[in-house]
Amino acid sequence: MIAAYTATSQTRVNAALETLFNAPLPELARLYQAMHYSVMNGGKRVRPLLAYAACEALGGKAEQANGAACAVELIHAYSLVHDDLPAMDDDDLRRGQPTTHKKFDEACAILAGDGLQSLAFSALLDPRLSDSSSDIRLQMVTALAQAAGPAGMVGGQAIDLGSVGLKLDQKALEQMHRHKTGALIEVSVKLGALASGRAEKDELKALQTYAQAIGLAFQVQDDILDVESDTETLGKRQGADIARDKPTYPALLGLDAAKAYALELRDQALHALRPFDAAAEPLRELARYIVERRN
Ligand code: IPE
Ligand code: IPE
Ligand code: MG
Ligand code: MG
Ligand code: MG
Repeated sequence: MIAAYTATSQTRVNAALETLFNAPLPELARLYQAMHYSVMNGGKRVRPLLAYAACEALGGKAEQANGAACAVELIHAYSLVHDDLPAMDDDDLRRGQPTTHKKFDEACAILAGDGLQSLAFSALLDPRLSDSSSDIRLQMVTALAQAAGPAGMVGGQAIDLGSVGLKLDQKALEQMHRHKTGALIEVSVKLGALASGRAEKDELKALQTYAQAIGLAFQVQDDILDVESDTETLGKRQGADIARDKPTYPALLGLDAAKAYALELRDQALHALRPFDAAAEPLRELARYIVERRN
């Protein structure tokens, strides 16, 4: 069931994303190509899937969350382009292809990332992508700015880069992961819920508990896969964290304890969804998928 849901949702978000890369001037063709390359080069689209699933869990139609789905994927793509730069993780492979700064050049990759970040906010406000009210859009922009910015994802990346070679304790590691990865996953669920136009306070709270648990689980699993997957399956270099002496869950707890923790987080997420009916089944499936995935 998750495979069919994933395929349908990926097709939906990819079609919406494709509409966003028309260069307004011939001189900007290369920048737009670099942005397009960075977004449309595969990717599991987990954050858009979460936005659609949250919208549907509240009785909304998935299409209502197109703006939210595009916005979170655009922020994610920008974060990956910058994460791979020589000044950050210095990676040359992403989604099985050369990273954006390898395919284009570093300056172009920096600008492509900058551009994608702006496009994300435009997508949230784009009337072609969703019919949300101005009030809902304002809540969405506020939430996305918080989650993506220095108090969220960007802050997490700063903690990550400042932690290379250090031995963080579990509390510090969790704080880093909650920022660098958890914040965007959490807001993906929130934006999807808001897009339904039906989100009540209690539901938002339960969905937040769910999203915080899977947000952390997602990065724990990413760390696990760096240890035990392979480059071809991952589409990025296996062992990159170890090579760079990054603080990770397997490095801190050992592989088995890291896996047990990921499963515990999945169970916390599922527990938070107890008040929801069958419409939340895609969200439940996604919680399972996040800790079972192999890439
Ligand atoms: C990788 O994210 C970076 C992290 C935040 C751990 P994904 O595993 O979602 O990457 P894609 O989008 O599928 O390539
Ligand atoms: C990336 O974390 C998090 C963000 C890009 C915000 P990682 O550095 O672990 O991601 P990968 O492993 O390169 O995909
Ligand atoms: Mg990184
Ligand atoms: Mg990286
Ligand atoms: Mg990683």
